[in-house]
Parts: sequence; structure tokens; C-alpha cells
Amino acid sequence: MKPENGLAMSTARRDAPVTCAPTKMSTESSPSAHDPESWVYFDGEFKQYQDVHIGLMTHALHYGTGCFEGIRGYWNDENVQLYLLQAVAHYERLHQSARILMLDLPHSVEELVDTTVELMRRNDYRSDCYIRPILFKSGEGIGLPYARVEASFGIYTTRFGKYVDTENGIRCTVASWRRIPDATVPVRAKVTGAYVNSHLAKSEAQRAGFDEAILMDIGGHVSEGASENLFMRRGDSFVTPPVSSDILEGVTRRLVMELVDEALGLRMEQREIDRSELYVCDELLLCGTGAEVCPVLEVDGRPVGSGKIGEGTAQLQRLFFSAARGEDKRYADWLRPVY
Ligand SMILES: Cc1ncc(COP(=O)(O)O)c(C=O)c1O
Repeated sequence: MKPENGLAMSTARRDAPVTCAPTKMSTESSPSAHDPESWVYFDGEFKQYQDVHIGLMTHALHYGTGCFEGIRGYWNDENVQLYLLQAVAHYERLHQSARILMLDLPHSVEELVDTTVELMRRNDYRSDCYIRPILFKSGEGIGLPYARVEASFGIYTTRFGKYVDTENGIRCTVASWRRIPDATVPVRAKVTGAYVNSHLAKSEAQRAGFDEAILMDIGGHVSEGASENLFMRRGDSFVTPPVSSDILEGVTRRLVMELVDEALGLRMEQREIDRSELYVCDELLLCGTGAEVCPVLEVDGRPVGSGKIGEGTAQLQRLFFSAARGEDKRYADWLRPVY
């Protein structure tokens, strides 16, 4: 917020952690008040947030013709370092989304990572952060020929805390809305317009008093959370739905699979999951850039396992957070230091 006297915000205020109370956030994209003076990147230039203006007739606003990413930065006080988690993987997925939507992304993955690092430095972040790159059809007008609608690319960043309550776990319900099938909207692209599906499911869950929704795919198998991939433990195996269950191919999902396989030494399976398995599994978790690794303690009023955070999930959380914060050197290649 711009102070009344027009002075720049103090460093102390910028560094205060922003914690997002679980269930109070409406969407992944509304974490906190925007700082109008924060640096953003837009169409080839570094600008202040308040200097970017997007028109009422922007194509993407009306038709959802854009794609985006969500990336986290983890602050490590001891190392005085900010680590971007899987920045390369996120920008590779942005390139894939752009290719699917036939949008031109005029920067290589390396350029995008370097620009993000520069942006974080300009904003002088010394706390956990969130980065939101977005590529969208920015042409304005009605009935524009598709091929001629120009695109814009921007990166927004903010200080960021928790998206869901990873410490205490969350309660979920199965949504009445099905996950969009790939035959209608490409599910492995992170398409802006597709998020009406997540929004409907999450709103329905929260209005019913739950923290998060779990969506079935169009064939009736478990797909994923409204903005997270899903894992369950049954006996000695962790299981996650395959890409053919219309999931977003999550970056965190791949990391969790790696941890289950290599660090926990449990079997990792990708197979279709029935709804009723959610009610009888030993452990359940949702994972994603926003949700990190989050235990699910209840589904549709039935406790998951003992109703407490399971040992497998707790171990995965410990491994994930120490890797993300740069404490576990074995996973140094997951991270890009900013300073
Ligand atoms: C629909 C959906 N599924 C899964 C995920 C998890 O993906 P990632 O781990 O790449 O953030 C997200 C978050 O981006 C999402 O929006």
C-alpha cells in the first residue's frame, strides 16, 4: 500500500511475513494486498506494479486465453539466502503451456529464471515469496482474428506465507464438479480459463465448511485437489493418479514421487484411484506449489487412517521443507539461490 506521505515503504514492513490463514483465502492468486510500488516485469521492462495497466477489452480477461505459473521462494535466515524452488521446471511447463495454446513466449527458460532472480533482488525480499509469471492474449477488441491477437508476458511477485494449514492438516470433501477432461481444455497446460473449474470446486467445499475440494475425473476416478495433486498411502505403497486421470502434471508431485522412492524407500505407484479408497487409505496428502505438502485428515466426514498426521506424510514434510529451505544439501539442485 502506498503510504499517505508518498515515501517508499520501509524495509521492515516489506520483510514482515504475510501469513495466509487457511480457508480464508479465496484463490491461489489473492495472497495479500498488492504493494503498488513493488517491481514487476512486463513486456520486456521492469516496472512498478502501479504502472502496469491492462485494458477492459483484454482478450484473456474475457476468454481465459492465458497460461501462468506459481513458483515459491523459500527464505533461509541462517544462510541469508532466498531459494527459488524448481524455477527451471516451472518455466519449462510455462513453455509447454504456451506451445499448447499457441502463444509466443519470447524468452528462453534460462532468461526467465534470470529475470525472476533480478526481480527478487530488486524487491529485496528477505522472507518467503511467491512468483506468478503470466502469458496472455492482451489484444483488445471484439471479434479479433485469433491469429492476430497479440500476447503479453509479465511476472508478479509477493511475500507469501501459508496457503493451507500444512502444520495441522486439512479437511476435504469430494466436489460435485468433475475435473475438466483433456478433451475439452488441455489439462497439462496451466490455462487461466481452466481455473473456473478449481474455483467452483473450492468455493463449494469452503461454503460447506471444508478446507479443500478433491475432484473426480470425468470417468469417476480421483483426479486431484482444486489446485494440488493427491497422494494416498495404502500399506507399503504411496499411490498417485496417473496423468490420464486429467491431472495437472505437478512439479511438486514429481518431487514427492522422488522422495517416496529414494528417501522413504516405499513403493511409488501411479494408478487410478477409486473414490472409496479415499475413505479407507492409511494416509492422504495434497501437494502443490501453494499447498506444499499438506496432510489431509478427513474426507467427507471420515477420518483418514487414525485421523492424525501419518508417519509417511510427516517424513515427506520434513524432507520437503528442509530441501526447499536449502537445509538438506542432497537436494541443492532443486534450488536457485537469489543472492
Ligand atoms: C490444478 C492444479 N493441480 C496441481 C497443482 C500442483 O502443481 P505444482 O506442484 O506444479 O504447483 C496445481 C498448482 O499449480 C494446480 O493448480
